[in-house]
Amino acid sequence: MTHATLILECTEADLKKAGELIRAGELVVFPTETVYGLGANALDPKACRKIFQAKGRPTDNPLIVHLSSMEEILTYTRRVSDRHLKLMEQCMPGPVTFVLPKAPDIPDIVTAGLSTVAIRIPSLTEARRLISYAGVPIAAPSANRSGEPSPTTFEMAYHAMAGRVAAIIKGPMCEVGIESSVVRIEKDRLELLRPGFVTFETLTELGKDFGLEVIDLSQLPQAKPASPGTKYTHYKPKATVYLFSSLEDLFSPLIEIPSSTRILYMKQPQSEELLHRIVSMGIEIVVFENMSDYARHLFFQFHRADKEGITTILAYYPPPTGIGLALRNRLIKASGGRFV
Ligand code: TXA
Ligand code: MG
Repeated sequence: MTHATLILECTEADLKKAGELIRAGELVVFPTETVYGLGANALDPKACRKIFQAKGRPTDNPLIVHLSSMEEILTYTRRVSDRHLKLMEQCMPGPVTFVLPKAPDIPDIVTAGLSTVAIRIPSLTEARRLISYAGVPIAAPSANRSGEPSPTTFEMAYHAMAGRVAAIIKGPMCEVGIESSVVRIEKDRLELLRPGFVTFETLTELGKDFGLEVIDLSQLPQAKPASPGTKYTHYKPKATVYLFSSLEDLFSPLIEIPSSTRILYMKQPQSEELLHRIVSMGIEIVVFENMSDYARHLFFQFHRADKEGITTILAYYPPPTGIGLALRNRLIKASGGRFV
């Protein structure tokens, strides 16, 4: 523990205090609609360096710069056309990040030396209030230790960052639960770099209105089963995660389910009988209502399983439509691509 960490609430007085800490070069953990962020003054290279230390993050991974309004975009980026701005206006504030050519004000440590900068305007009001009070843009990765799942509750953020930061703002459980979609803007097209809550389908529809083609660059080289490979492990709980595409897979005679197992599943038509069979085997199963519910609770359930000493998580691998694409991306990394 290097820091006495202040716990702040989402009151105006506390958000103001947090803003002052940011401006003074300190680290502050804050809630957003996606996941909790680990924030520092984006214009202060020394403050930003502290982010990498607190997270244990390699410095070749660039940070997202959080702004409180559309007007600020032109200050921190270059060569943004009207067409691009209008498109961004359709989804900001919201759970999406746009990568644009950077203005010279943004220090190299933030962009890992790239000529582009990632910009996001959170839709959670308290996050934007904090940025306004800080009076500077806030560079923030997710507030987890590098490699671990992103925090989606105050308790998770506290667990990861207490003692490493000046303050943690206690907010609500994050609505979205997974990180923003990251979209690079090129002249005539949008490139999806990381899938999120703002889906490929939504971006494609939106792109059409502005004559921009959308391409998906987020697929991992080996998005399919079999090749474990630790190279892509990320968002990893302590428990070992295995994926499955259908509940029937769990009843294969070749599979032995260890006693300390939790199953994460998403409601499907006609799955009642198999669900009953699993419950009667004494295995705990968490059933999500739909994709958004799954996304919202995925990292929270990872955290909960770890806290309870669960050693194996069997997680449903959804189809690649809508938010399913983002879920698959996080699940492949969390499992290292292992299927049951
Ligand atoms: O929802 C979110 O995006 C959360 C909250 C706190 O805003 N933040 C977040 O940050 O997830 P982080 O650092 O965990 O993920 C940022 C992602 C990384 O994959 C990084 O490589 C990418 O954005 N990124 C940042 N700057 C980039 C750039 N200039 N070009 C391409 N990718 C970039
Ligand atoms: Mg992260």
